[in-house]
Amino acid sequence: MLIHCLGAAAGGGYPQWNCACAGCRKARAKPEIGTTHAGIAVSGTGEQWFLLNATPDVHHQIAADPSLHPGPEIRTTPIAGVLLTDAEFDHTIGLLMLREESSLTVYGTFPVLEALALWFPVRQLLSDYADFSWSQVETGTPLDLDDRLRVTAFRTGSKAPRYIGRSRLRDQSSEWEVGFRLEDKVTGGIAVYAPTLPQWDEKFAEQVASADCVFLDGTFWTDDEMSSQGAGGRTGRSMGHMPVSGDDGSARNLAALPAKRKIYTHINNTNPILDEESKERRWVTDLGIEVGRAGLEVEV
Ligand code: MLT
Ligand code: MN
Ligand code: ZN
Repeated sequence: MLIHCLGAAAGGGYPQWNCACAGCRKARAKPEIGTTHAGIAVSGTGEQWFLLNATPDVHHQIAADPSLHPGPEIRTTPIAGVLLTDAEFDHTIGLLMLREESSLTVYGTFPVLEALALWFPVRQLLSDYADFSWSQVETGTPLDLDDRLRVTAFRTGSKAPRYIGRSRLRDQSSEWEVGFRLEDKVTGGIAVYAPTLPQWDEKFAEQVASADCVFLDGTFWTDDEMSSQGAGGRTGRSMGHMPVSGDDGSARNLAALPAKRKIYTHINNTNPILDEESKERRWVTDLGIEVGRAGLEVEV
């Protein structure tokens, strides 16, 4: 299985258009350290690809990766589908960019597909512009994407997008946020993609225990990162993202995994690990953990 990281930033990107935090200032001064929104492309053989999340940058991300370029026929594309981990804007706005009469299969859980029908009605909006199939995934039920790639969704959190409204936000039973476990049936390689992780519980530990590669939620360094930088009052945990650092952060658990590649993704622009020269970046790197970026490739 081939995995191409297309970008690694959380909502807003890095830099974010209306943010003058230290990180965004630095990324404006040094554009080469900036990164587009978090997403990966996955393929069994390199011929047919699946995108994990359709970010607001998806057209730039496709343009930057020759594996994803169209051909040989005038309107054939190696991209066969999009797997959605949730219905957040930063993971779904790109569906609007992928119209142009294309035919793709979009995979998501029931609440995610329902959100895209009712509250952010991409499905209706696109029905005359593209030929998308909407395929519901059941957590825990493996699904063969093609001869080689098998994917299983697993629940990570239950936070609905804010645009859904308050009543729905209280629905703790819904599978609003999932991770995907991808298996190559030929090599036996396993990769996990989990950009939203509220807590590292036993169920999550099971999903990653035997993985060869893990892409993990690296949104925030600390829980109070946004408020401590004056960038809003919400905590990381209230947004469904456990922090990277600290005794109860994800880094120590991630570092302890046997996986060969451990990669943070969905990193907010306020998170100092985006800065290659920061002490926080060094700390993460010393633990054997990489920080995602466009162009990073993994084979498992
Ligand atoms: C998230 O990852 O929690 C959301 O994308 C944040 C948001 O845009 O509200
Ligand atoms: Mn997000
Ligand atoms: Zn910023």
